[in-house]
Amino acid sequence: MSKKLLSALFGASLAALAMSPAAFAADQKINEFHADMGGGCETCHKDGAPSSDGVYEFQQCQSCHGPLADMDAVHKPHDGKLQCNDCHKVHDEVVGQRPTCEGCHDDGRTAEKILGK
Ligand code: HEC
Ligand code: HEC
Ligand code: HEC
Ligand code: HEC
Repeated sequence: MSKKLLSALFGASLAALAMSPAAFAADQKINEFHADMGGGCETCHKDGAPSSDGVYEFQQCQSCHGPLADMDAVHKPHDGKLQCNDCHKVHDEVVGQRPTCEGCHDDGRTAEKILGK
């Protein structure tokens, strides 16, 4: 989802906070970055506690970012196969980090090749 769209979604003040340089501190975990937008752990977790199957969290991701089916050629083929957290380990990876493919595909594919970059 574009930043413009998300700004419209969140309202100007919250979006300004989300996009501020401080919110993108290099070593910030993806979950912390999201929680700091103002919603805390409830941004992704029902009552702030993780679900056993990740389904609620996956729905939360899609409510802001849209479904996998509507995303780019890296995301689209995983529609109905994966949840976001299967690749973006939101509690382990930092902002700016991009998931790799080799954990599941052993043919040397990369996001860059798929996207023609
Ligand atoms: C960007 C969304 C997001 C935010 C914000 C977030 N989490 Fe999570 N969290 C997840 C996902 C996705 C999982 C893995 C799926 C699951 O176990 O429900 C997870 C898993 C967990 C787990 C299970 C153990 C683990 O690390 O896998 C705990 C405990 C947890 N979160 C606590 C928290 C707390 C406390 C906060 C607030 C400080 C928080 N989370 C903020 C998305 C988020
Ligand atoms: C198959 C692994 C995989 C899954 C599943 C996945 N992603 Fe990604 N994601 C990537 C990779 C690789 C990139 C970097 C390349 C790109 O932009 O496609 C990325 C990039 C992104 C970006 C940054 C885009 C940008 O313009 O910089 C966002 C936001 C994102 N993913 C959100 C999500 C959300 C939300 C989900 C679940 C609905 C999801 N991803 C599921 C691998 C994945
Ligand atoms: C309340 C709305 C909201 C929810 C819920 C949400 N996101 Fe985000 N996410 C954002 C915004 C806003 C940004 C910053 C703008 C952007 O990169 O699209 C962002 C950024 C990201 C990025 C890019 C960070 C970077 O490294 O540049 C990833 C990856 C991402 N989200 C994945 C997820 C995943 C996975 C979930 C669910 C576990 C999730 N988001 C839930 C709003 C949300
Ligand atoms: C967590 C495991 C996982 C990761 C990581 C992952 N994939 Fe996949 N991928 C899958 C699964 C599962 C399927 C569905 C396979 C099927 O339908 O038989 C799939 C299917 C695909 C497909 C369509 C079918 C095919 O094999 O060509 C493409 C394209 C694809 N992935 C690209 C990528 C790229 C690019 C990356 C790295 C950015 C990546 N995947 C990372 C699990 C993963």
